[in-house]
Amino acid sequence: TSNQMWGGRFADQPDAIMEAINASIGFDKRLAAQDIAGSRAHAAMLAATGIISDSDAEAIREGLLTVLSEIEGGSFEFSTALEDIHMNVEARLKAVIGEPAGRLHTGRSRNDQVATDFRLWVRDQIDEAEGSLTRLIHALLAQAEAGAEWVMPGFTHLQTAQPVTWGHHMMAYVEMFGRDLSRVRDARKRMNESPLGAAALAGTGFPIDRHMTAQALGFDAPMANSLDAVSARDFALEFLSVASISAMHLSRFAEELVIWSSAQFRFVTLSDRFSTGSSIMPQKKNPDAAELIRAKIGRIFGANVALMMVMKGLPLAYSKDMQEDKEQVFDAADNWLLALAAMEGMVRDMTANVANLEKAASAGFSTATDLADWLVRETGLPFREAHHVTGALVALAEKTGRDLPDLTLDEMQAVHGNITASVYDVLGVHNSVASRRSYGGTAPDRVREQIARWKEAL
Ligand code: ARG
Repeated sequence: TSNQMWGGRFADQPDAIMEAINASIGFDKRLAAQDIAGSRAHAAMLAATGIISDSDAEAIREGLLTVLSEIEGGSFEFSTALEDIHMNVEARLKAVIGEPAGRLHTGRSRNDQVATDFRLWVRDQIDEAEGSLTRLIHALLAQAEAGAEWVMPGFTHLQTAQPVTWGHHMMAYVEMFGRDLSRVRDARKRMNESPLGAAALAGTGFPIDRHMTAQALGFDAPMANSLDAVSARDFALEFLSVASISAMHLSRFAEELVIWSSAQFRFVTLSDRFSTGSSIMPQKKNPDAAELIRAKIGRIFGANVALMMVMKGLPLAYSKDMQEDKEQVFDAADNWLLALAAMEGMVRDMTANVANLEKAASAGFSTATDLADWLVRETGLPFREAHHVTGALVALAEKTGRDLPDLTLDEMQAVHGNITASVYDVLGVHNSVASRRSYGGTAPDRVREQIARWKEAL
């Protein structure tokens, strides 16, 4: 017996190796629910346009629900010989309802079918990601609200730069994940058009109604060009690009958590729930979740590059190369969503070590810029000269193993005669952050404004 879908043309069975390289059922079974939703919409449309009878459509639509419940219940037997999810479902439908099953594929091809299923699946992931990003942002907002006033070192080159507030640092990530959120929403708008009814590549002679199936499946419109509809995978690439950018943000934050939770920093304590121990070193508590999040960018960006490479040389319209789109996207979506959830959990659970943060904030001459600004304001020095004077004071403190506020007034006046005792007011880290009130700055009031703005926006 040759293939039941195209046996008319074929006398021989495929070689076992051919079956192994060709079959996608091992992974595209994940499209089952989308495939059945697409087929049900297609069958209803075929009846509404008079292409098949109402009773056949009814039998098909009911039968598909039976098949779906078999798949969801785990009793469905997937067959590699039937290649993919589309033919597995259709073959089972035939077994369940008999002859009307053969009318389902009228005016349709697997090319528009798979494009439709995959779009629906990616759209679901986008909706999931929207929820995950929103929950992560809420977790960050809670941290920011708790620590709007806590001071910590701000870094450039991972060298202490200027004091910032904990809330400000958390809100920096809120901005990043907020842009990721707007990117998934953009991607959803652009991808939400229906390929169904493009058929193999050229459309069909049957009087189908593509607007009807588009609407039934929640698409905004049918895609306007049948060649494009079956060939386009830029929606999947856009999803992978958005996921890659977001995973990059996750990775940067994960890297900070790894550093911050080290014995050398002790900025945060991660919860037991999101840490692991060592099998040999009893003292260890490792930030494995953060490390794994940091690593996920590799496979997500890898998926993006892999699919870009699959697509870049393909002439229109469908080529079997495109079957290689799914595993990459499945893996990237799974891992992105998992990383988002893990980050949310870590952020919710982590405890900032406020005293350590504050101690670190004042180390490393972090208020040197405040001193220079004070010289400009109070003595009228040009900033460049104030920078020079401050540099000399930092050098003096460093040479004698002290911090800026530890210098005596006499010592300071020896460097610049116009320095007065009021300089000590700006050398404290709390004064420093409170003074940075420019829009978007680190002052606690400013941070609270941004927290309020985000809470309103979400
Ligand atoms: N399993 C195929 C895929 O994922 C479905 C489309 C097959 N179409 C074809 N003309 N062979 O791409």
